[in-house]
Amino acid sequence: MKATVKAHTNIALIKYWGKRDERLFLPTNNSLSVTLDKFYTITTVEFDEQLTSDQFYLNGNEAEAKETKKVVTFLNRVREKANSTLFAKVTSENHVPTAAGFASSASGYAALAAAAAKAIGLNLNERELSQLARQGSGSASRSIFGGYVEWEKGMESDGSDCYATPILDRDAWDLRVLSVEVTTKAKKVLSREGMKRTVETSPFFAGWLEAVDKDLITIKEALQEKDFTKLGQVVEANALKMHATTLGANPPFMYWQSATVEVMQEVQALREKGIEAYFTIDAGPNVKVVCQPDDEQKIHEALNALPVVNEIHHCRVGPGITYIAD
Ligand code: ADP
Ligand code: DP6
Repeated sequence: MKATVKAHTNIALIKYWGKRDERLFLPTNNSLSVTLDKFYTITTVEFDEQLTSDQFYLNGNEAEAKETKKVVTFLNRVREKANSTLFAKVTSENHVPTAAGFASSASGYAALAAAAAKAIGLNLNERELSQLARQGSGSASRSIFGGYVEWEKGMESDGSDCYATPILDRDAWDLRVLSVEVTTKAKKVLSREGMKRTVETSPFFAGWLEAVDKDLITIKEALQEKDFTKLGQVVEANALKMHATTLGANPPFMYWQSATVEVMQEVQALREKGIEAYFTIDAGPNVKVVCQPDDEQKIHEALNALPVVNEIHHCRVGPGITYIAD
């Protein structure tokens, strides 16, 4: 009744931004990500007849009530699937800053889904695990898999055709992602709240939906052709379009800080000097820079020289979930 799983975070190259069903975490658009080797979560779940409620320990401490509530809601879905009434102790370590735009929710819920399913005796395949992880946090559906992954929005109202699938192996293209940390403070507007507000109030959201389908076609061509310039250009443009929707929301909001803009401008300056680097940004102020192995060091030096940069984490393309023996 106990299982431990390691899951890595992923960074969306084409963003998931908007839900068509909030309860089931069904998105308004397909998204495409790359799993990262450097950042991960290890979660242990133990169902125990002695427990009278679920317990959630995150990074060594009992989690806050609102975090625990989300985990309990998730465990309720697992119990329902397994026809069980047992409570669980969940212990999780994030080897990634929590709620700072480093996708802790993606690795967190992918690890929780796989560990909880195994511990309760559900025998789910990876597609089913992706669907389950999705119901904890949408981006977690992609973290079940390694390499380059597409999450299908699906058409069905019950979510039965809404899951992620691997589209290119991690060994097929050795891209690098520099995760440029300007702050590790938790963000003010969580992704969940941010995308909801955007869907409900931003007049730019319709433009986002129109653009994202085209961006997906372009990135899939780039992945097939291993055309880095094509990939980088669409990655950067897609992130900018996602962030533009937040400026049109009511009330408007912005994930960038001045340090974010400085990093973005340095990336663009590097390109003018002939060094190919492209940025993407999730729901937070930190910047991820996508590049090819030969340019990684030069890009590191240029970005590290900016006073606003705290730390640069170097990531390669990472693996899918792994089960750890207890
Ligand atoms: P991030 O940029 O870190 O993904 P999000 O706002 O998307 O930020 O998600 C952060 C939330 O994800 C946390 O507030 C918490 O509810 C959840 N979370 C983070 N780590 C874990 C974990 N290891 N297990 C379960 N839930 C987690
Ligand atoms: C900007 O997966 O954290 O990182 O489904 O509400 O938990 P919920 O949201 P979450 O949103 C991620 C948004 C994003 C883009 C992406 O990862 O695709």
